[in-house]
Amino acid sequence: MTTATVNTAEHRHARAVVELAGVTKEYPGGVKALRGVDLTVLEGELLAIVGPSGSGKSTLLHIVGTLDRPSTGEVAIAGHDIAKLSDRALSALRSRHVGFVFQSFHLVPGISARANVAEGLLYSGLSRAERGRRAARALERVGLGDRMEHRPHELSGGQKQRVAIARAVAGEPDLLLADEPTGALDSASGHSVIELLHELNADGATIAVITHDHEIAASLPRQVRIRDGEIVADVWNTAGVNAP
Ligand SMILES: Nc1ncnc2c1ncn2[C@@H]1O[C@H](COP(=O)(O)OP(=O)(O)OP(=O)(O)O)[C@@H](O)[C@H]1O
Ligand SMILES: [Mg+2]
Repeated sequence: MTTATVNTAEHRHARAVVELAGVTKEYPGGVKALRGVDLTVLEGELLAIVGPSGSGKSTLLHIVGTLDRPSTGEVAIAGHDIAKLSDRALSALRSRHVGFVFQSFHLVPGISARANVAEGLLYSGLSRAERGRRAARALERVGLGDRMEHRPHELSGGQKQRVAIARAVAGEPDLLLADEPTGALDSASGHSVIELLHELNADGATIAVITHDHEIAASLPRQVRIRDGEIVADVWNTAGVNAP
C-alpha cells in the first residue's frame, strides 16, 4: 500500500482543525465501524475520504463533526478535546465550528432558499434580520442570488445542493464536512458543486468530502482511503507540483 506524506511549506505552520488519535467506533450489536483511526486535518486543507460501502466513511465524518462520540480514542476539533465537553457544550462547539452537507440535501420543504439558509444560523445568537442578511450573502456566494425566494421544489438538484452548501457555510465554520454531496446529482451539476467547494477552499474553508467518484477524489489535493474501519492510505496529490 502506498502512503505518501508530503508536507508542503504552507502546511507546516497551519493549525490543526481536526485531530483524531486511536479512534474506534463500535455500534450497539457489535459492528466495529472504526478500528483505530489517526487523522489530522490542517486549516485550509481540502480532502477526499474514499472507500467501499460500509467501510466507515460516514461514521468517521459524524465523529469528526461531533455528531457522535468515539467508543475509544481522542478527538479534538478546533483545539477542543471533545471528551471534556458535555453534550450541550458539544452542540455549541458544533454550531460554531462545523458545517454539514448531505447527499440528500436535508432542506426544509415549503420555505424559501433564503429561509432554509437562515435556519442554519438559528443558534448563532444573531438577530433574525442579521440571519436573513447573512443567508442572502451565502446564497449569492454559491451563485443563487436570483433564487432566494424559490422553495426547494422549485429548484434543480444542483441548486438544492448549493442551498445546502450555503446553509453549511453561512456561519463561516472552521470546517465544512460533506457526505457524498454529488451523489444525487448528474455529472455536470456534480462538477459545479465540486468547483464551488474549490472556491470556498480558496477563500479559506477547510473541507472534507466523502465521495465514491474516483475522478472527483483524484482532483482534490489529498485523499484519505478507508477500508474496514481503517485508514489504508493517505495521499497528497502532488501531480500539479511535479508536472513538467
Ligand atoms: N447506527 C448504526 N448502528 C449499527 N451499525 C451501524 C450504524 N451505522 C453504521 N453502521 C455499520 O457500520 C459500518 C460503517 O458504516 P458507514 O455508514 O460508516 O459506512 P460508509 O463507508 O459511509 O458506507 P456508504 O458508502 O455505503 O455510505 C457498516 O457496516 C454499517 O452497517
Ligand atoms: Mg456513508
